Amino acid sequence: MRPSRDQGCVDMAVVIRQLRGPQSPESATTQRLLEMISAGCREEQKYAAEAAFILECSRQDLQEDLLAGGGRWWIAWDNDTPVGLVRVGPTGGNRPNERLVSSLYVAETHRLQGIGRRLVETALAAAKAEGCRDVYLFVAENSPARAFYAKLNLFRTVESPIPGYIKLQWSTTKTQGTLENNKTSMSRTAIVGLGLALAALGCAALIFLMRGR
Ligand SMILES: CC(C)(COP(=O)(O)OP(=O)(O)OC[C@H]1O[C@@H](n2cnc3c(N)ncnc32)[C@H](O)[C@@H]1OP(=O)(O)O)[C@@H](O)C(=O)NCCC(=O)NCCS
Repeated sequence: MRPSRDQGCVDMAVVIRQLRGPQSPESATTQRLLEMISAGCREEQKYAAEAAFILECSRQDLQEDLLAGGGRWWIAWDNDTPVGLVRVGPTGGNRPNERLVSSLYVAETHRLQGIGRRLVETALAAAKAEGCRDVYLFVAENSPARAFYAKLNLFRTVESPIPGYIKLQWSTTKTQGTLENNKTSMSRTAIVGLGLALAALGCAALIFLMRGR
């Protein structure tokens, strides 16, 4: 039986390696990666209508990246079988210091063994090594993956341009925090703001009363 976190043992037999190309579109590796991308999108489709579009983008990204050498993909290998993947690519536009993490997926047989965390951490380290300051990713509002990202405690939420999706940011220049931490810090900001407003109101009332005397 495969060791699990519940048994106090993480499966380190799984190694994460950068995908190196060129790989033929017909190769067993390419086919397995496409299968995992499809499986990830089927899961995402339960929570977000845009998943079919995202699937098409991921498929195209993989095929183009493979022709260009594959370096944007990081694959978790269990011996000779890919069991997880993630992509670190440009965000588009003229933003060389930004990266987008996408297509994260871990095979159901290999979940809750720390592989998802290792893939994300590897993606962030790769972006940092390329000199990037900000890394973004999108997660569907109702997706169970939100709890996964919250557990990583690496990201802060920022305003999302896509309805139904949360946008997360990892930055080398800003303090990070989980979704929950951000809610806490937002309520703290609201309390401090309210306190300052009340103090200002008190001062104004005092000045008004003193002038009245
Ligand atoms: C989300 C996903 C990548 C997580 O991969 P994983 O290898 O099972 O995650 P890990 O084992 O590294 O988990 C890291 C932490 O997150 C927690 N976690 C993982 N999945 C979770 C879930 N669905 N709900 C709550 N917590 C979760 C783990 O318990 C662990 O917590 P710990 O550090 O306290 O032990 C995987 O479930 C998946 O591929 N899902 C389908 C595709 C998807 O949703 N991708 C993300 C698209 S944005």
